[in-house]
Amino acid sequence: MNGDTGSPAIGIDDLSFATTEFVLPHTELAEYNGTPIGKYHLGIGQHAMSIPAADEDIVTMAATAAAPVVARHGADRIRTVVLATESSIDQAKSAGVYVHSLLGLPTSTRVVELKQACYGATAALQFAMGLVHRNRSEQVLVIASDVSKYDLDSPGEATQGAAAAAMLVGEDPSLVRIEPTSGLFTSDVMDFWRPNYRDTALVDGRESISAYLQAVEGVWKDYGDQGGRALSEFHAFCYHQPFTKMSFKAHRHLLNYSGCQLDDEDIARVLEPTTRYNAVIGNSYTASLYLALAALLDGEEDLTDRTIGFLSYGSGSVAELFAGSVVPGYRAHLRSAAHHEAIQRRRTIDHATYRELHGRSFPTDGGDYRVPRQTNGPYRLAALSGHKRVYERG
Ligand code: CAA
Repeated sequence: MNGDTGSPAIGIDDLSFATTEFVLPHTELAEYNGTPIGKYHLGIGQHAMSIPAADEDIVTMAATAAAPVVARHGADRIRTVVLATESSIDQAKSAGVYVHSLLGLPTSTRVVELKQACYGATAALQFAMGLVHRNRSEQVLVIASDVSKYDLDSPGEATQGAAAAAMLVGEDPSLVRIEPTSGLFTSDVMDFWRPNYRDTALVDGRESISAYLQAVEGVWKDYGDQGGRALSEFHAFCYHQPFTKMSFKAHRHLLNYSGCQLDDEDIARVLEPTTRYNAVIGNSYTASLYLALAALLDGEEDLTDRTIGFLSYGSGSVAELFAGSVVPGYRAHLRSAAHHEAIQRRRTIDHATYRELHGRSFPTDGGDYRVPRQTNGPYRLAALSGHKRVYERG
């Protein structure tokens, strides 16, 4: 129940993620550029990154993540789809409309795309909470889908990745009840951005880390001002993970800032279970926080009634901190086997193949082009024709 109103809580009823056809181990990158592998495995906490096939993009990943959610719950109560991304495929049309079509959702649905770097999915989740609060019989399908892409041979290259997370938000949820109190922080900073004419992001690495840590302070201060929980009440924390080591930096910073003792064992206990998917998928921008949640819920520990902190950061920058509590019986609703399968089924590529895929770009002349069939996933980008993307079931 929601303590404030006496009505049932609202939150995450289902959570499913998908990633790409290919994976590049960091050992391949290290061998190519002569970096000691310890820098990747220990320094940034990354072991592999998901690489999209030529016929995969944010739409195919989003549809793949969301299809099992719709299959389990039906579409009768889903009246809104919010797709959050910062690697959008069109300046006007929402990627969610393609996903709506691929999933066969009813026409009586509102669909919209949201953007604010890696924070977008949290805005989507909060807006979904508001919509369900307004009409408790409705469910909202929130999808975060992103391809993280930096220039070849740049420092950001090791922090690429790709994935989509789909969440069904509704009343009386099966997984996580989201609490209404949030700490918020916005600051105009140029730490990471991608002008419309580029398909790779620009970033000031050091600035981006300090901007993230500044946002940690900002959201914690505001969360306290809003009457939020004490730090000691949180059992675990899910952070946005551009690379998994960043969550350790952020959590240490939070403990330090709030005057708590830093205990390495305790920090590892709180964070390690949240990093297991992101360490082998890489940065999935808007989806990364919710992959951290999936990893935590799919882990061995029984989290029933435990309070989890969520810290969402999107460069530029906007951040939000909120709490959720894990619903009794949640394990029966998890998709752990499918999540492991999504990671295990990826085909390992060598460095030359990765570079070739990285360098691919679509023709811009409006002609008719077939896209080579590479993915074995359920949805693919089949062609470009007259400046339109043509998707098909795989
Ligand atoms: N063994 C173990 N550790 C090693 C090592 C070795 N052989 N060699 C280096 N390291 C450690 C370093 O000491 C360093 O650790 P600390 O940060 O704890 O000091 C770590 O490995 C990384 O080394 P560098 O700082 O030298 O690495 P770099 O200059 O190549 O850049 C990066 C790292 C800034 C993260 C870069 O990959 C980057 O720019 N990434 C993209 C930006 C990003 O992810 N920013 C995060 C915050 S912004 C955000 O969150 C939004 C978003 O999604 C982008």
